[in-house]
Amino acid sequence: MTNKTEHIIDDDRLQGVLIDSGSIQARIETLAQEIKDAYVGEKSVYLMGVLKGASIFVSDLIRALRSVGMRGLHLDFVRASTYQSGMKGTGEKTRKVKISGMTCDNVEGCSILLVDDILDQGFTLSALKDHFLNELKAKSVKTCVFLEKKLESPSPEVLELRKHFKADFRGFEVKDRWVVGYGLDVGEEFRDLPYVALAREECFR
Ligand code: IMP
Ligand code: MG
Repeated sequence: MTNKTEHIIDDDRLQGVLIDSGSIQARIETLAQEIKDAYVGEKSVYLMGVLKGASIFVSDLIRALRSVGMRGLHLDFVRASTYQSGMKGTGEKTRKVKISGMTCDNVEGCSILLVDDILDQGFTLSALKDHFLNELKAKSVKTCVFLEKKLESPSPEVLELRKHFKADFRGFEVKDRWVVGYGLDVGEEFRDLPYVALAREECFR
């Protein structure tokens, strides 16, 4: 297992390692078991990675699912983005989510597991879930996030959304700070880090 101290931070814009790569891999193994147990009796499940942030997580997760004996797995991707770029603003009421296509044609009647990098305010994943259920007529939609942010001062609208919208599976809870690595970016940088690090937010404003 990789130790935190083995990760060398060589960029002043990063503050420190939050989750080391050994802990990530260990958690993915237990998460895979949780997911397998929740899908007992299901013949096939579509893992729908949300591009681009979830690409690394979903690649590790699908192999971990196979290792715990889950079969009938499909891998597809959907592209979703919020209209604003960069970090979120404080007190946001809502964000428009643009869903711009996926890598398969038809998921009507299918069991979908939406896999995203991080559940922050919840706009992205709740919009995707609605879309897959109501527009694309999936049989079921569950959600799995690598990280979930424990929000410090959400707007009343976000609080309401997060009260009703929960991820079915989550890897880790993190504090309400901008995190990067293991697929997560700031301005398209740092997706390649094998660990999760805290970004110095003042460097990216
Ligand atoms: P939400 O719609 O507010 O839940 O935002 C979710 C999306 O914002 C995620 O899919 C990420 O792409 C992005 N995001 C939110 N917080 C972070 C972060 O700390 N680091 C990198 N991306 C983030
Ligand atoms: Mg994302």
